[in-house]
Amino acid sequence: MSEDLEKVAHENKVVVRDLMKVYRRGQKEVIALRGLDFEVGHGEFLSIVGPSGSGKSTLLKMLGALDKPTAGAILFDGNSLTLLDDRRSMLFRRAKVGFVWQTGNLVPGLTAFKNVTLPMRLAGAPKAAANERAKMLLDTMGLSERVTHKPSQLSGGENQRVAICVALANKPELVLADEVTGELDSETAMMVMEALKTINKDFGTCIVNVTHNPRVAEYASRVIRIRDGLIEGQRHTLYGDITEIDAKGRMVIPDTVRKLAGIGKRVVLKVTNEGILVTPLESEEMENDLQEVAGEASEA
Ligand SMILES: Nc1ncnc2c1ncn2[C@@H]1O[C@H](COP(=O)(O)OP(=O)(O)O)[C@@H](O)[C@H]1O
Ligand SMILES: [Mg+2]
Repeated sequence: MSEDLEKVAHENKVVVRDLMKVYRRGQKEVIALRGLDFEVGHGEFLSIVGPSGSGKSTLLKMLGALDKPTAGAILFDGNSLTLLDDRRSMLFRRAKVGFVWQTGNLVPGLTAFKNVTLPMRLAGAPKAAANERAKMLLDTMGLSERVTHKPSQLSGGENQRVAICVALANKPELVLADEVTGELDSETAMMVMEALKTINKDFGTCIVNVTHNPRVAEYASRVIRIRDGLIEGQRHTLYGDITEIDAKGRMVIPDTVRKLAGIGKRVVLKVTNEGILVTPLESEEMENDLQEVAGEASEA
């Protein structure tokens, strides 16, 4: 890699390079991420928008160290997440990350207040400190009148704002939000997005929000679009795509890769120290060279 990765890692909270994820179900492979490169700045509120199935949730799971990529790197404060074992991944999540999902963020039997104090108590915070922070967070989210209500007694938008408080309980440095407005009407959705914006502004927490809804995405200070596991408009470096070689040695080059690499009907194969280089046969000059080589070969 020619870039100064150390410098980029220093200047950003999160650096993602050539991130790739292949799911295997029996014989079948699904390539969910095909090589993403992007950064999340310190204190940035980033939205990732893309249609259903484009790889958004997969990406968020990698960012939160809930799952491991097949290839590529994620640096958090310059440290590689992909090298963490399961225990360290768990410790990383506990210390640094808050999650908000579309549903199921809250314990149904507990009041809003208890839901917010729970993660702090589990992390060993003294009761008084946990109570004080829960009150502050719920106040910030405009929920001071709702603290004694249980999730079933709260509206969808209120539930999600409590969920944001829960995610923030242990002072995470990064909040990951996956379709958090997916079940809300558009007015309520905008209120919840405003709530995330407040968190980002007031606490300086980094936020990565994924959604299929472009209007929701606009609340962030920057929007990245993904489609079929690739960032739109990004020139992918083409490391790490996996393809199959059949019994006759024929290799399938996926359409996306062909388009990105400008490959038409014919390619040039070159064996290098690092592997086989496949490049498009583009110039006539090269075509002539090849015909000469082919001629020599048939004469020999
Ligand atoms: N655990 C899994 N096993 C197999 N395939 C999966 C798994 N999770 C996601 N996928 C597939 O990966 C692709 C991306 O999924 P996902 O990240 O959930 O997309 P999005 O959140 O953008 O809707 C889809 O084709 C999906 O079917
Ligand atoms: Mg999803």
